[in-house]
Amino acid sequence: MLHLPGEGPPDPHGVVVGPLDLAARVDEALAVQAVAFGLTVEEIGVRRHIVLRHLTSPGARALGATTRSGHLVGFVYGMPNDRTHWWSTVVEPYLRDTGHEGWLDDSFVITELHVHPDYQQHGIGRSLITTITDGSLQPRSILSAIDVESPARHLYRALGYRDLARPVLFPSAPTPYAVMGAPLPLRR
Ligand SMILES: CC(C)(COP(=O)(O)OP(=O)(O)OC[C@H]1O[C@@H](n2cnc3c(N)ncnc32)[C@H](O)[C@@H]1OP(=O)(O)O)[C@@H](O)C(=O)NCCC(=O)NCCS
Repeated sequence: MLHLPGEGPPDPHGVVVGPLDLAARVDEALAVQAVAFGLTVEEIGVRRHIVLRHLTSPGARALGATTRSGHLVGFVYGMPNDRTHWWSTVVEPYLRDTGHEGWLDDSFVITELHVHPDYQQHGIGRSLITTITDGSLQPRSILSAIDVESPARHLYRALGYRDLARPVLFPSAPTPYAVMGAPLPLRR
């Protein structure tokens, strides 16, 4: 089991979900993503620039899951979809092919959601994504997830996300993704 520096044994019950200054804590967040999702040092550097750029988008918001001693153990961020963003331009032809292109308008995109492995399966991921989407002005939410049966895919389906297009190939990724969408508020 992995342990966070300066922490005792993981105590998921002491974790609080709340607003996160992701620009200020981007390195902690990417450290969580690196162990949860798997990122190389090079990928962390690339993601860092992308996250900081995303946070300048109108309506971008982030939430963090923080231990009693203030360590970040999970985060989510997203923003209203912008058709000019790279992600949207990649998924657009796939959504057009399946008749779901309209989901690119008036949608809140979940860009990243990660929980440190020591803190998974305690409801933190669910709390992060439901809380951030509850604050959305858009009536629906879209995201992409690796197109395999994973905890993430289980969680998204449980919350009402359904497949809009799959497989979706991102130029930068070796594995196919699924694009999923759900009406808001998410199902409880
Ligand atoms: C996806 C992720 C964020 C879920 O976080 P979490 O805090 O463990 O999730 P929760 O405890 O809130 O679980 C909520 C639901 O997720 C699903 N789930 C979570 N872990 C699961 C597992 N190991 N196997 C199957 N389903 C699982 C279940 O539907 C669960 O609901 P249930 O407890 O009522 O059965 C976490 O597994 C993670 O960080 N994974 C690696 C990174 C990743 O894949 N991020 C998403 C990128 S698209």
